[in-house]
Amino acid sequence: MRRPKVYVTREIPERGLKKIMEHFDTEVWPEYSPPPKKIIIEKAKNVDALVTLLTDKIDAEVFDAAPNLKIVAQMAVGYDNIDVEEATRRGIYVTNTPGVLTETTADLAWALLMAIARRIVEADKYIREGKWRVAWHPMMLLGRDVYGATLGIIGAGRIGMAVARRAKGFNMRILYYDIVRRPELEKDIGAEYVDLDTLLSQSDFITIHVPLTKDTYHMINAEKLRLVKKTAFIINTSRGQVIDEKALYEALKEGRIAGAALDVFEEEPIPMDNPLLKLDNVVLTPHIGSASHETRSKMAEMVADNLIAFFEGRVPPNLVNPEVMKIRPLPAKSI
Ligand code: GLV
Repeated sequence: MRRPKVYVTREIPERGLKKIMEHFDTEVWPEYSPPPKKIIIEKAKNVDALVTLLTDKIDAEVFDAAPNLKIVAQMAVGYDNIDVEEATRRGIYVTNTPGVLTETTADLAWALLMAIARRIVEADKYIREGKWRVAWHPMMLLGRDVYGATLGIIGAGRIGMAVARRAKGFNMRILYYDIVRRPELEKDIGAEYVDLDTLLSQSDFITIHVPLTKDTYHMINAEKLRLVKKTAFIINTSRGQVIDEKALYEALKEGRIAGAALDVFEEEPIPMDNPLLKLDNVVLTPHIGSASHETRSKMAEMVADNLIAFFEGRVPPNLVNPEVMKIRPLPAKSI
């Protein structure tokens, strides 16, 4: 039996890659940076499956070139880089890696929240730049309290809820906004469901956990930023495009909001001339929400498990477009 061919667009942790190699005829893009689109198109011509990352744009152009492509297995929870509607129409299965990265991403959101509140990055720089010349001063590097403050969670899915659980330990008032209500969050954590404008105007810390969709694009824009308290901070570990970055920059520069801690940007990597880089009241990390050894290994293994399930004729555990099964039924076992 011919082994299905898989193209992997980057070296992924060994736990997953090894499993993929054991089952499939595998080729891996060897470089640190993503393969150019034309390489993906070229490779897609002959493969049964693609393993993708959020930096790979997978759209009609790729599908057009790939007559044998049956499944795209993404190593990320977000999959806004994939045209899922188009994939479904063509009978191509799409999978992702939810769940395993929930706590890791919530940890990073929390780290960013603490860092911006207590000016950790500024304080580190203060020492390294030789500015710490007075041992202790009542007015040195004053930040804001986290304990007892009001936290606004936009998007109360798995990650938003994990952030809420952390907030409970900090005795915070927790507000949340989502398109659906989450009774368990209200009952177990005591979170209050509010509309977006109320959340923006009452929170001391606003943390974003929505997927990027047509509806969430620039959900936080100039108009919404005008509702935010002057002393409040925004934390974003979801997708950069959820915030209108120019509007955020203006609000930060003019001191209309206190600060922002961002793991994601409208353009990644962030261009070095992005004016956000000049602001002290901004903490920046390079899209590392799920970046722990443990979690990245689990994500890679999930990718392998999704592929293996599909080629064994089983429903992949993390299928994002189950309606595809009506267009193209699961294949017969081929591995
Ligand atoms: C990372 O951003 C992910 O979607 O997993």
